[in-house]
Amino acid sequence: MLTTDVIILGAGAAGLMCAQHAAKRGRRVLLLDHANKAGKKILMSGGGRCNFTNMYTEPGNFLSHNAHFCKSALARYSQWDFVELVVKHDVPYHEKKLGQLFCDRKSSDILEMLLIECDESGVELRLNTSIEQIDKVDGGYRLHTSAGPMACQSLVIATGGLSIPTLGATGFGYQVAKQFGHNVLPTRAGLVPFTITEPQLKALCGELSGTSVEDCLVSCNGQTFRENILFTHRGLSGPAILQISSYWQAGDAIEINLLPHIDLPVWLAEQQQARPNTELKTLLAELFTKKMAGLLAEQWFDSKPLKQYSAAELQAVAERLAAWRLVPAGTEGYRTAEVTLGGIDTREVSSKTFESQKAPGLYFIGEVLDVTGHLGGFNFQWAWASAFAAAQYV
Ligand code: FDA
Repeated sequence: MLTTDVIILGAGAAGLMCAQHAAKRGRRVLLLDHANKAGKKILMSGGGRCNFTNMYTEPGNFLSHNAHFCKSALARYSQWDFVELVVKHDVPYHEKKLGQLFCDRKSSDILEMLLIECDESGVELRLNTSIEQIDKVDGGYRLHTSAGPMACQSLVIATGGLSIPTLGATGFGYQVAKQFGHNVLPTRAGLVPFTITEPQLKALCGELSGTSVEDCLVSCNGQTFRENILFTHRGLSGPAILQISSYWQAGDAIEINLLPHIDLPVWLAEQQQARPNTELKTLLAELFTKKMAGLLAEQWFDSKPLKQYSAAELQAVAERLAAWRLVPAGTEGYRTAEVTLGGIDTREVSSKTFESQKAPGLYFIGEVLDVTGHLGGFNFQWAWASAFAAAQYV
């Protein structure tokens, strides 16, 4: 039987990071994945340029039922530690906006870098390997795999969440956690577009599909994000929508301020004074695309020359544009979600070592845990940081 010190299940972001750092400590590390390629999500990430971290990473950028859990690992392996690795490998990068660091070239630069580090530190990587059974034995774990039986002292679960099954995502990590007595919190898709079914609204989104509105404020359940939104055939997307989706529960309304940079009541009154014969539709076309202005004027407002609006009517126009309330029918789900919210309850995992408090020698890292970052490089930073922390103890 193949026996080693550490077996890591999942050669994604967290698995690749944990493997190299455990091997650098002198541990014999075997990294297994059922997929035919390591790090498929890294390759797909950031529109092919991998938003590998965020300059402003802090615990407040993460959702979890246990808000303090992420603090220790994020402090021990920061965004600057990862940037140092990127610089060491001469990977060119830039800040796109809001502290988001992207590759200048391709995501494969990051994957290549991680694979080189694994290789140089002696990690053995085996792809196309599925895990059939895991048993706790004296001094460690025994695995039945498609490549035969294997045994290790420390077993690390880095199999990620449920988003994008076509990239190899499975609920395997949750099953293992349950097998060893862990609580798994309900999961749902996060950083995901909304779908709309209300006929008039759906028609509006469909007509405007591909149109984005720069600089919107989107709010739900006490959270607000300021970024752009995008109309799609199915509903709404774009960074502000993806961010708020992580705070949205079925049935909740979201509120969108389409023009947060303008004091609308004041501005509309000024325009009424300055150009009373201009139609509202024409005025809105200075703020949105002509098509969007026309559709809004048609569906939301009775478009007429500004002088014909009463003060109350103008106020209603301002309110609709600054506080557009809608109830999404749902989300596009795991098919397109960037992340999975919920997962393994961190109250049963050490925030220092990432070891299970139920099964000694078993570790959980990355997205499989109930820690989910905002959009903008935070999810990879969590994968790197949690993996680095666990690697010191496996
Ligand atoms: P990850 O999913 O990376 O790896 C899990 C690995 O486990 C996979 O290789 C999988 O094949 C393997 N596995 C699963 N089940 C298994 C089983 N039963 N047996 C063996 N192996 C198994 N984040 C960010 O910070 N910046 C970004 O730009 C993006 N962009 C982005 C785009 C898209 C399209 C998606 C879907 C996601 C992102 N993300 C992101 C999120 C980011 O990709 C994600 O949070 C991390 O990859 C999570 O790292 P993990 O290692 O935990 O899981």
